[in-house]
Amino acid sequence: MVQKTQQNGYALVTGASYGIGEEFARQLAARGWPLILVARSQDRLERLRASLIAEYLDIDIRCVTLDLASPGAPAELFQKTQAANLEVGLLINNAGFGAFGEFISIDRQRQRQMVDLNVAALVELSHLYLAPMKQRAAGGILNVASIVGFIPLPYCAVYAATKAFVRSFSEALHEEARQYGVQVMVVHPGSTKTNFFEVAGTSPFNDPSRMQTAGQVVRESLRAFDHGRSSIVTGASNRLLMMAVALVPLSWIAAIVGRQIRRKSKRVENLSRYRGGTVAS
Ligand SMILES: NC(=O)c1ccc[n+]([C@@H]2O[C@H](COP(=O)([O-])OP(=O)(O)OC[C@H]3O[C@@H](n4cnc5c(N)ncnc54)[C@H](OP(=O)(O)O)[C@@H]3O)[C@@H](O)[C@H]2O)c1
Repeated sequence: MVQKTQQNGYALVTGASYGIGEEFARQLAARGWPLILVARSQDRLERLRASLIAEYLDIDIRCVTLDLASPGAPAELFQKTQAANLEVGLLINNAGFGAFGEFISIDRQRQRQMVDLNVAALVELSHLYLAPMKQRAAGGILNVASIVGFIPLPYCAVYAATKAFVRSFSEALHEEARQYGVQVMVVHPGSTKTNFFEVAGTSPFNDPSRMQTAGQVVRESLRAFDHGRSSIVTGASNRLLMMAVALVPLSWIAAIVGRQIRRKSKRVENLSRYRGGTVAS
């Protein structure tokens, strides 16, 4: 259960400076969890810490400023928490980013950083923090994937593939870890109102009026975690969409989505705008 008890230790949230990660920090603080907040933006983390302390007074909150896509960063984070004697009872692997555009046109270094953060750091942190959880036969890991992890997504190929990895990895790890009393769950949000699209750019499918809030995504996620689920798609319309998608061959989905994106992109502007290699969810 994700409800705080005295024995749970800290909840460590990666990507806590914005969006879904910040909301995880807020909702876990409300449940009484002491927190370790990780991201690159020190000022944002310190501001969040100050606001949570103002609200919950005696809450213990540590901030770690780190680029988790850089080599050795997950091990450095683990060493820091070990050295400070901070037991992590709940790991939220949330930090991640996307990029929309033609695969061949998106900067190679940026694609590599996406794999390093969305996949490599998540696997390494899971491995590092799972070992002491296994010893204690207690704890949980919650990995943030995306509904795009269910489908091959043209013009968002690497991001969708990183989330497919997180989905498969987490479902498999759930089955292993539950044997020794540790819960692993994967969350699949659809488009959510966060800073994500500022970083990734605007995809032709962005429709802010149909997006969930980070608050809704986190509330649904924590509720599912409380119930011992292995995975959740947040938002009723996203769940319906994923049920429909499951009935169609993946090659058809890729072809349909690719055609739609090309058509919408031409309407919004020219596809060449996306060839610069920013832009998706
Ligand atoms: N928003 C959506 O539509 C949507 C949909 C499905 C899934 N998701 C997933 O949800 C997760 C959170 O995204 P969000 O929507 O909340 O986006 P966001 O508002 O852009 O937040 C991303 C977080 O990740 C952190 N981050 C990025 N690069 C990092 C790095 N190299 N090292 C450490 N931290 C890093 C950012 O902090 P700094 O910049 O301070 O480092 C920020 O706190 C991601 O995994 C994303 O793929 C989002």
